[in-house]
Amino acid sequence: MCPGYNLALKVMALSLANLLHGFVWKLPDGVTAEELNMEETYRLTMPRKFPLEAVVEPRLPARLYMATWVPDARTCVG
Ligand code: HEM
Repeated sequence: MCPGYNLALKVMALSLANLLHGFVWKLPDGVTAEELNMEETYRLTMPRKFPLEAVVEPRLPARLYMATWVPDARTCVG
């Protein structure tokens, strides 16, 4: 049993939320949601049989995608 199970679920939800919040997600031109093949392969995890191709565009200003904490050598304050 993985002791990181609950942490992993929260980290994954947060990561997904960040991706959805930060980017506009679209399917490539000419591809509709109905056409997507949702088959999975059975391994240790269950990845898609065919990778999902998506077109993403930043939703927010570029500065918000950069590191949020940069040490300031002059003041030693972040
Ligand atoms: C998506 C994230 C994660 C996945 C898919 C995952 C998956 C697994 C799996 C399959 C096992 C083996 C379980 C077993 O043999 O019964 C395991 C064990 C373990 N995991 Fe994770 N894990 C994840 C995240 C984490 C995190 C975040 C931590 C720690 C912060 C962690 C710490 C451990 C440890 C210490 C073990 C060994 C447990 C033991 O020896 O009994 N895992 N994990």
